[in-house]
Amino acid sequence: MTHLLLDLPTHLKGSDFLRVGDWSRDDLLATLDLADELKRLRAAHAPHDLLRGRTIGMIFRKPSTRTRVSFAAGISQLGGDPVQLSTVGMHVDARGESIRDTSLVLSRYLDALVIRTFAQAEVDEYAQHCSVPVVNGLTDDAHPCQALADLQTVRERLGELAGVRVVYVGDGNNVCVSLMIACAKVGASFCAATPAGYEPPAKAVAHARRIVAASGGTVELADDPRAAARGADVLYTDVWTSMGQEDERARRLRDFAGWTIDASLVSLMSSRGIVLHCLPAHDGEEITAEVLYGKRSAAWDQAENRLHAQKALLALIVP
Ligand code: CP
Ligand code: NVA
Repeated sequence: MTHLLLDLPTHLKGSDFLRVGDWSRDDLLATLDLADELKRLRAAHAPHDLLRGRTIGMIFRKPSTRTRVSFAAGISQLGGDPVQLSTVGMHVDARGESIRDTSLVLSRYLDALVIRTFAQAEVDEYAQHCSVPVVNGLTDDAHPCQALADLQTVRERLGELAGVRVVYVGDGNNVCVSLMIACAKVGASFCAATPAGYEPPAKAVAHARRIVAASGGTVELADDPRAAARGADVLYTDVWTSMGQEDERARRLRDFAGWTIDASLVSLMSSRGIVLHCLPAHDGEEITAEVLYGKRSAAWDQAENRLHAQKALLALIVP
């Protein structure tokens, strides 16, 4: 077994993780390698206290189960201290202290900051002013930590990433965008099948297409889930109504009718095909219970891998 812990790359110390596209293919793959190693060490109950003495702050402006708990547990497992920050009780929300001043002060107390919020610009502003690494724990635009765990799960199940046919079915949202860019980076063959009007943003698609020109992957858009699912190695979906879009729910339920990942869609996959969902799931909307709990589902390993992928990320970026 390789012992990556003895030979951790140091060039990422101090880096932010705001978008998948900011990181090179090699650095993403190095993170996955370390995530696999940390997963093995945890299973063996072997020590891996790579964040001993470090304090990591977390701000969640949207609900979270996986991201909140996997970061908190992961930081503890690495020997560090997670601190949940409530902005409701901080001056940034209560009395209008600027993000700049908040960042300058938090950087004196913390060794890194994880933020889940609405606007990507808010995370970017924290990163601009923090002298410690800032990690995007989900914004309206992106979910890069999810994409790391997604790649880890695909590679773990299928043994490779380059050339794997990943078909995302549903809303071209934050999760779809980060998955698309991640797939592009590692040379996978990505297809987003969405109803008209729900495609991933054109700028993100153009970015992914520029990346695959070098990586050898492909990026397609489709409007027929059955045609897209044929031969897929990965079928991936997410909720139709993301956090912050609750007032669009009725319209979205109508627009996404027929876009459920069900047993019939799964039967079109390649023989090695797996089903992923970032969770939380809405039974009977974007996925059926039969599929989510069925033998093709890797969604529970995927959720577990949030822990290992984020531990690797922090171990690489926290100075
Ligand atoms: N997939 C994901 O980010 O889940 P949470 O919203 O529970 O963090
Ligand atoms: N697209 C979803 C993902 C939740 C993890 C949302 O933003 O609500």
